[in-house]
Amino acid sequence: MLPEGALNLQELEQLAREKLTAMAYAYYASGALDELTLRENVAAWARLPIHYRVLVDVSARDLSTTVLGARVSMPVLVAPTAFHGLACSDGELATVRAAGGAGTIMCLSSLSNTRVEEVCAAAGGPVWFQLYVYRDRAATEALVRRAEAAGASAIVLTVDAPLLGRRERDVRNEFHLPEGLRVENMSAVAGHAEVALRSASSGLAAYFKEKLDPSLTWKDVAWLRGATRLPVLVKGIVRADDARRAVDHGASGIVVSNHGGRQLDGSPATASVLGPIADAVQGRIEVLVDGGVRRGADVLRALALGARAVLVGRPILWGLATAGEAGARGVLEALRAEIDHAMALAGCASVSDVTRDLLVPPGP
Ligand code: GLV
Repeated sequence: MLPEGALNLQELEQLAREKLTAMAYAYYASGALDELTLRENVAAWARLPIHYRVLVDVSARDLSTTVLGARVSMPVLVAPTAFHGLACSDGELATVRAAGGAGTIMCLSSLSNTRVEEVCAAAGGPVWFQLYVYRDRAATEALVRRAEAAGASAIVLTVDAPLLGRRERDVRNEFHLPEGLRVENMSAVAGHAEVALRSASSGLAAYFKEKLDPSLTWKDVAWLRGATRLPVLVKGIVRADDARRAVDHGASGIVVSNHGGRQLDGSPATASVLGPIADAVQGRIEVLVDGGVRRGADVLRALALGARAVLVGRPILWGLATAGEAGARGVLEALRAEIDHAMALAGCASVSDVTRDLLVPPGP
């Protein structure tokens, strides 16, 4: 369960804040500019009333489902977030153990403080690899090969970050990685691991500007598909037409995401675009969603709108910061308990019972 002192994921953030350096907390917590999208991501779920069904036998409930064919114990995955070494000494090893222990998938960030090989070796469940495409395509391909060889089971291509969003808290703090932490996946590429992640403003923004490829287009989705035998998911979609393009370009799935409100401030909350996107995709590929999921009921809302599963990012970081692997596991178990409870109260015995009519009830 959650570390002592927190009854829910919001309360956990306060505990984590006390444990983290001010720079690390601000990096994890911040959104772009005025943080409109950051706040709206959370608020938009809460605005969706759940029209529960009554007199349904919910004495036995099953939260399990499959995502890209892999069975997971509940429709919650661990979202890719950078630099877990800022939260706890075991970094991403703690996260992957927590995800495996909870019977779900971890999506590892390219920007991890632990090499993908080590993370996969410690995994008790599937690991997906989130990819940023570097200007150096050979280095990018090498990274994809390593993820494959290490045993990752999908590549999640982030497409909402041609440049890094401007996070003013990071600019103010001159965000950089502390001594001893590096972009480990790039340690073999000269100048990539230590890239100063230190500058007169956000070191990560400088890293993106210098190293990542802002010329990426849909053609590169085809390139990536040709470069790997793994399924490719496209992460960062907020429009139905882009979702259709992802289908047309052979993606196996999409993640409806605005990067946790960290990229374009003013972009729509994922809760507000998920339904139309799922409708446009028409079940041809799997639709996942992240952004602002803080309650089990939010997971029900997401499934009702057409998501296969949700990914949670910041709450996992709060768990790691508060109590390492046990803290991250506690976050997943707290969400599981809340989903189970919400399903029972909504008249759903299994995730397949969580359908659109819970949000849009049939008329008289
Ligand atoms: C990294 O991907 C970030 O958004 O900070």
